[in-house]
Amino acid sequence: MRKEIRIAIVGVGNCASSLIQGLQYYNSVSSNKFVPGLIHSLVGRYRVKDIVPVVAFDIDERKINKDISEAIFEKPNVATKFCNVPILNAKVFVGPILDGVSQHMLKFDKDITFLPTKEKPVNVAEKLKEYKVDVVINYLPVGSKEATEYYANAAIQAGCAFVNCMPIFIASNKKWIKKFERAGLPLLGDDVKSQLGATWSHRMAIQSYLDRGIKILHTKQENYGGNTDFLNMTDPERIQTKLISKRSSIEHLIKDHPKGGYSIPPVYAGPGKGMNNHGFIAGQGDKKIAKIIVEGIGFGGIPVNIKIELEVEDSPNSAGIVIDAIRCAKLGLDRGISGVLTSPSSFFFKHPYKKVQDSEAIKKIEKFIKCKTQR
Ligand SMILES: NC(=O)c1ccc[n+]([C@@H]2O[C@H](COP(=O)([O-])OP(=O)(O)OC[C@H]3O[C@@H](n4cnc5c(N)ncnc54)[C@H](O)[C@@H]3O)[C@@H](O)[C@H]2O)c1
Repeated sequence: MRKEIRIAIVGVGNCASSLIQGLQYYNSVSSNKFVPGLIHSLVGRYRVKDIVPVVAFDIDERKINKDISEAIFEKPNVATKFCNVPILNAKVFVGPILDGVSQHMLKFDKDITFLPTKEKPVNVAEKLKEYKVDVVINYLPVGSKEATEYYANAAIQAGCAFVNCMPIFIASNKKWIKKFERAGLPLLGDDVKSQLGATWSHRMAIQSYLDRGIKILHTKQENYGGNTDFLNMTDPERIQTKLISKRSSIEHLIKDHPKGGYSIPPVYAGPGKGMNNHGFIAGQGDKKIAKIIVEGIGFGGIPVNIKIELEVEDSPNSAGIVIDAIRCAKLGLDRGISGVLTSPSSFFFKHPYKKVQDSEAIKKIEKFIKCKTQR
């Protein structure tokens, strides 16, 4: 029997907007044929349509106490509207702010930043139980460590799987993996590797150098955008784990490849270092521009250099992955797997517990979906 997947969203920002629109946009997909924009039309038996948002949590005055279908189009969200969403009868409750909103965000015009409510937060674990949530999706801003840990604990208390889309280390942290193991619950993360984003493009370029015998001398990735994610990342204190997540996703490829193993200068991969030494560009909205450089030495000691400029909409790019990660989390629940789901995490996230090359991750995720591998 096919069951619905009841999801809770933590942080109704741009990524949530694209995800919720995508659930509607792909509502009629029911067979395993290729559908543009989806990696998997079906994940196991699960269609996109089987994902049902039932509750959400936010702290922004403009989003709380609204239906998710309305909250996703409130400011400061700027994600492109590509689909009308009917009323979902799924409310956005007030969550605890904790460290979700940093002081520097309060300096900006309210149209581009968070507007924290003074309303009392609900007990999140109780709400997750009340709404019979299967999977919790964490979309909190970069740097929200306390808040992420609060929601991860709430998921455990309520018996939910947890999909951690941002770079506070939960699914790559042994302590948290043990907690989810003890609770008998699946865990996926950390930090979404977008469908065709800066990390994926950078990894593909690096992989080509390694596979084709070109020695890498230097590489970097600088990203520019105009959404709240980029505004939040203008505070250097908040981005430390984001930088680790992105850097390690590149460095491990070189370290672990049979033709790699040599050292190169530390890789910078993160918000751009343009005029203001950060990657936020006012007015650029959800468009992300990634500038990637790889420099190396090829046959005869001759330089081989690549410059990539990638231009994408940031939020739908991440939703195309989360729509699969949610269905894998439900497969984990159905199969009674506890702890980190290593195959989906390696394929869908930048900072998984087990880092592998993408060619291997692709094989592993297909085996996981077909139940040929435990995790
Ligand atoms: N392609 C991508 O967009 C992408 C890729 C990888 C990772 N991520 C990560 O995903 C996360 C979400 O990205 P986004 O673009 O949707 O961010 P966003 O800034 O648009 O949304 C964050 C939301 O969290 C809410 N929030 C803040 N504190 C909260 C709290 N304590 N409780 C509940 N809600 C709270 C905000 O009000 C806002 O609605 C970020 O950490 C981002 O770095 C995004």
